[in-house]
Amino acid sequence: MTITLPAAAAAVPTVEVDAAVTTSGLEKRFRGGQLAVAGIDLAVPHGSVFGFLGPNGSGKTTTIRMLLGLIAPTSGSHTLLGRPMPGAAAEVLPLVGALVEGPAFHPYLSGRDNLARVDAADRRADPRTAAARIDGALDRVGLAAAARKRYRAYSLGMRQRLGIAAALLQPRELLVLDEPTNGLDPQGTREVRTLIQGLADEGVTVLLSSHLLSEVEQVCTHVGVMHAGRLVAQGTMDELRGTQSARVRIETTDPAAAVRALGLPDPHVDGRHVSAVLGDREPEKVLAALVHAGVPVRQFTVAAAGLEDVFVALTGEGFDVSG
Ligand SMILES: Nc1ncnc2c1ncn2[C@@H]1O[C@H](COP(=O)(O)OP(=O)(O)O)[C@@H](O)[C@H]1O
Ligand SMILES: [Mg+2]
Repeated sequence: MTITLPAAAAAVPTVEVDAAVTTSGLEKRFRGGQLAVAGIDLAVPHGSVFGFLGPNGSGKTTTIRMLLGLIAPTSGSHTLLGRPMPGAAAEVLPLVGALVEGPAFHPYLSGRDNLARVDAADRRADPRTAAARIDGALDRVGLAAAARKRYRAYSLGMRQRLGIAAALLQPRELLVLDEPTNGLDPQGTREVRTLIQGLADEGVTVLLSSHLLSEVEQVCTHVGVMHAGRLVAQGTMDELRGTQSARVRIETTDPAAAVRALGLPDPHVDGRHVSAVLGDREPEKVLAALVHAGVPVRQFTVAAAGLEDVFVALTGEGFDVSG
């Protein structure tokens, strides 16, 4: 099932012109027949913080690995920063920073010395200006004070930030982060989120994957939802919320009468509470109908659909699950 959001579809022309990442029918079938990514059309607008959201095993890492040219797609094509890949890899990849799976840092070296090793391995990096690059990157991720500490003494949040620092040794237009907050405690998660926000404010496009809705909701401007290898929705946060209708919730001493007067499909009764999806009905008219029918209404609330509702509707399962 592919749901194309009308609002997102309407935005396609501008997105195509100014997209940091596009894919067209991008597909990956692993040897052995497993279809990990089932032909997706992704559009990551330039300047966005794009949350690539989906349960574990839904194809996020496989997609990201294809985007970065780490594995070859079975079919389909993609562009990075407006240039076709892999043709333009040599020009484009230097502008793309990435954190995919934990980078291999040396536990007994300091954060700074680890970055020095990464920098030295970059053929394009001028060794004479290495110190400035390394200190700049450490500063940017808030690790300047801990620069001389050994990596093994770093918290998980610090390790993850060092990984991002390594991706930021060169100026980047696009940063691709695969589950950057995976395994982090709330403090580490906040650190990474603040860092992403800061980068976005500087104009860097950030594509980050996550299986945690709460993560994406707090920092992202756009979201794409993966489910079983398919991109089941993408758009701005508001566009996604708009796909699910608000719910009305009533507290009454006569739920049966309320259900009759509501006339909404699939009402849910729980003790004195009745709730139902509003659809295109106006809440004022629903309330008037209840009063007109003499239903004793104690409380009447209209709740906008949360993103959680949207994702459950799209994927048939909740998020924040490792499955
Ligand atoms: N190298 C591989 N060989 C075979 N199957 C793979 C390989 N890598 C991933 N998969 C499978 O592809 C699917 C998507 O995996 P992945 O992209 O890692 O999902 P996610 O990052 O969303 O958790 C999973 O079913 C996974 O088992
Ligand atoms: Mg993954």
